[in-house]
Amino acid sequence: MKPIQVGLLGIGTVGSGTFNVLTRNQEEIRRRAGRGIEITMVADLNVERAREIVGDQARVVADAREIIANPEIDIVIELIGGYGIARALVLEAINAGKHVVTANKALLAVHGTEIFAAASARGVMVAFEAAVAGGIPIIKALREGLTANQVQWVAGIINGTTNFILSEMRDKGLDFDVVLKEAQRLGYAEADPTFDIEGVDAAHKATLMSALAFGIPVQFDKAHVEGITKLSAVDIRYAEQLGYRIKLLGIAKRRDDVGGIELRVHPTLVPAKRLIANVEGAMNAVMVQGDAVGTTLYYGKGAGSEPTASAVIADLVDITRLHTADPDHRVPHLAFQAGELRDTPVLPIDQVRTAFYLRLRVADQKGVLSAITSILAASDISIDAVLQRESNDGENQTDVIILTHETAEGAMRAALAQMQALPTVLAPIVSLRKEELA
Ligand code: NDP
Ligand code: HSE
Repeated sequence: MKPIQVGLLGIGTVGSGTFNVLTRNQEEIRRRAGRGIEITMVADLNVERAREIVGDQARVVADAREIIANPEIDIVIELIGGYGIARALVLEAINAGKHVVTANKALLAVHGTEIFAAASARGVMVAFEAAVAGGIPIIKALREGLTANQVQWVAGIINGTTNFILSEMRDKGLDFDVVLKEAQRLGYAEADPTFDIEGVDAAHKATLMSALAFGIPVQFDKAHVEGITKLSAVDIRYAEQLGYRIKLLGIAKRRDDVGGIELRVHPTLVPAKRLIANVEGAMNAVMVQGDAVGTTLYYGKGAGSEPTASAVIADLVDITRLHTADPDHRVPHLAFQAGELRDTPVLPIDQVRTAFYLRLRVADQKGVLSAITSILAASDISIDAVLQRESNDGENQTDVIILTHETAEGAMRAALAQMQALPTVLAPIVSLRKEELA
């Protein structure tokens, strides 16, 4: 049988990895897919660089629309990134009857509803394994392997750049900016690295996982997003002393008590003894808790050229195997049948429930601690542990660190405002969320 023909839009970090792995492993991939898979056309703005990568194995063009217009092309891979031209090209490819593979989580988290509806209407597949956690097959796990379960929660280190930054800062004492530059050099960071460090990229991925886990539409605009730029080295050290590591987690949690879903990304204290707390560098890990299976953990490279290509090519194989199947018998894009998505609301952050780490810079004088604990008690917030540093010689101020039990975010915010107003609290209070992930 003639090989399935693929057109590649964008041959940068992931595109070049995809081309190289597909070429290197073509015979093994053919044996798995039941048919050869060939990238026969490549579009990139930098035509010269693209030609250097593909040699004479594929036709290189500057205009991606030449690929979409080619009736010989069965599958279009979009590896340009962003919401602009990528959205237009993906929709055009779908309308032209092409199946689409993309690693573009930003596009799907924001425009997924439109794109999946267009694909269903046209009877084509949009596959996006590479969009979450790079090379880890977490989409496959959520859509297929865990399909028997009511998922309770999903929590993951789903941004390699920020995990790399946090690891290097902690282990080597390197500055934030130096490590970010290295992450960019290694091809981990997004074109706009603020997406990584401000938590936006992780929120794109968490949004996709929330849809797959709970059968709700993709709703990036409802996600609560905090990055790592405000995190200070002193809190990383105190957390360690208390037996915790700080990780940027993307969390999606079902809350049957209020009939909603929590969807949030923020730096999180995680017990150091958990496997996920020990995931370092650009590695990613996703925990999924299902009612039948219990807690599961998926670990691997979350970014980079060939790890991400591994996921892109897995999608090519899936489409090659399934493209002749009745569209109604394919695995649904978002794990649940399109007509079965629910409007379960994503909860506002005030209704989210977590435990907290608080650091208060206070005057070292009698009664300070009791004033603070009285406010927490009056707010019905129960204390788990307190650590009070001795003040340094000559200083009459010190740090008090408090770990609380789980409480509603709204209650904590109100208590924080009261504590901040105490004359003995000398600096803005640092509050970080804490998860046991048990
Ligand atoms: P790169 O910037 O390395 O590659 C994008 C390529 O697309 C560049 O070669 C760029 O050319 C080209 N391009 C831009 N505009 C057009 C256009 N209109 N037509 C054709 N080509 C165009 O990005 P990545 O490979 O890192 O990322 C690609 C996608 O994969 C993104 O959505 C990203 O979020 C996602 N992703 C990336 C991962 C990674 O580790 N890097 C991991 C998982 C997902 P030029 O350079 O000349 O602008
Ligand atoms: N910028 C992303 C990261 C790439 O660092 O995880 C993988 O999606």
